[in-house]
Amino acid sequence: MDLIDRIADRKARIAVVGIGYVGLPLAVSFAEAGFEVVGIDSDRTRADAVNRGESYVEDVDSSRLAALTKVVANARGGRSRSTTGGRPAGSLSASNGYDSLSSADVVIVCVPTPLSKTKVPDLSYIIAASDEIAAHLRPGVLVVLESTTYPGTTEELVLPRLAGSNGRSLIVGRDFFLAFSPERIDPGNRTYSIRNTPKVVGGVTASCLEVAKSLYGTIVEQVVPVSSTRAAEMVKLLENTFRATNIALVNEMAIMCRRLDLDVWEVIEAAKTKPYGFMPFYPGPGLGGHCIPIDPQYLAWKLKSMNYQARFIQLAEEINFDMPHYVSERISDALNADQKSVKGSHVLILGAAYKADVADVRESPAVELIEILDKKGASVSYNDPLVPSLNSSGITLESVPLTEAVLADADCVVIATAHRAYDWQYVADHSRLIVDTRNATARIHEARARIVKL
Ligand SMILES: NC(=O)c1ccc[n+]([C@@H]2O[C@H](COP(=O)([O-])OP(=O)(O)OC[C@H]3O[C@@H](n4cnc5c(N)ncnc54)[C@H](O)[C@@H]3O)[C@@H](O)[C@H]2O)c1
Repeated sequence: MDLIDRIADRKARIAVVGIGYVGLPLAVSFAEAGFEVVGIDSDRTRADAVNRGESYVEDVDSSRLAALTKVVANARGGRSRSTTGGRPAGSLSASNGYDSLSSADVVIVCVPTPLSKTKVPDLSYIIAASDEIAAHLRPGVLVVLESTTYPGTTEELVLPRLAGSNGRSLIVGRDFFLAFSPERIDPGNRTYSIRNTPKVVGGVTASCLEVAKSLYGTIVEQVVPVSSTRAAEMVKLLENTFRATNIALVNEMAIMCRRLDLDVWEVIEAAKTKPYGFMPFYPGPGLGGHCIPIDPQYLAWKLKSMNYQARFIQLAEEINFDMPHYVSERISDALNADQKSVKGSHVLILGAAYKADVADVRESPAVELIEILDKKGASVSYNDPLVPSLNSSGITLESVPLTEAVLADADCVVIATAHRAYDWQYVADHSRLIVDTRNATARIHEARARIVKL
């Protein structure tokens, strides 16, 4: 097949639509594998940053980007593409227009799939991207959707747009190829990268699957084919619903352990010594990020349209979304023991990002906690080495420096996100009261602060 040969020879041109947390590392991986890659993003600032070789995603070093964008600059300057092991070196450029879709052999879609204000899937980004791809579709192109979405999206929303592009009646699997491959990237994870994380792929037809497998085989060690795009879509939702429900279970365990005057962290540490049939999950101040709080809702929404209530998902959502309120009660109790009220107390939140070692504050429970405490009349400040400022629900804050004076001044220090950069002994030595929602202070045995765990 022509496209499979072009992929094997690195002659296929790849366009990645949406170069955010998912799209940018993917575009870089393909460029590093020797492909000519164009990142397309409706946000001009992102496209401009890529062209300057400046990364805005933690998992991509600017030096990697700069090396790939330099190849484009050299080519424009009249110098030919250098070679690596006999293969042309890959390159990466970016644009906020869609013109380059007309010359792409492969188009990968990594646009957002958020929830609307009324908590239903917002598919407008997938629809807008599909319309643009359809308007520029050339025969023989492979299109892959990577955005997380409900089972059926690729066939119900993307396929008809491409098949009917520009008034034509194209046949999938013959005139163009269409596949779904869920993105499994875990921002900040230093062990698993795109290369060593198996990639699940489902095609609309057998030939779609073959082409998609050959594409991903150039950047990942293991491709896992499944029978359809719907199965591939469901794989991602199983993975993230599994995480959301297990996190909810362990969050409820934390609440129950508290009632029983038990340390949930001790219980988990001991339970995880079981060599089979148990996998540890850890409690925390709630769910955050663009995936775990949102993806299961896509599944629940789809099932609701089929008159089925996704009960686990609903229960997990209730427990997880209540955690910032539960933590605020723990803070209130801890202050109460010092004869203080939340109102008027100075509370310092450590970590605003939704998880350790990333700068992403989307859906962050730390941010919700700040809002809850602010409404209760506390004077709230925060420190996050990766998040210099916050602007959310009418709250605008700058990260305060983590000095002895700042720690000593706080009536309560709340560990919301345990970034690796923090020195917990230093924090414990200079604070008065700590509410630790992450067990970050597990190894601290002597300190000035009174430490209260979740
Ligand atoms: N962030 C993660 O850890 C992660 C992991 C796995 C899967 N996902 C899924 O991947 C998808 C993308 O997530 P993300 O975190 O990269 O989002 P993101 O917001 O970081 O990036 C998406 C990018 O798409 C751009 N965009 C939006 N509409 C566009 C359009 N019509 N044309 C071109 N560009 C457009 C946005 O400007 C943005 O830069 C989502 O479906 C998400 O659920 C995310």
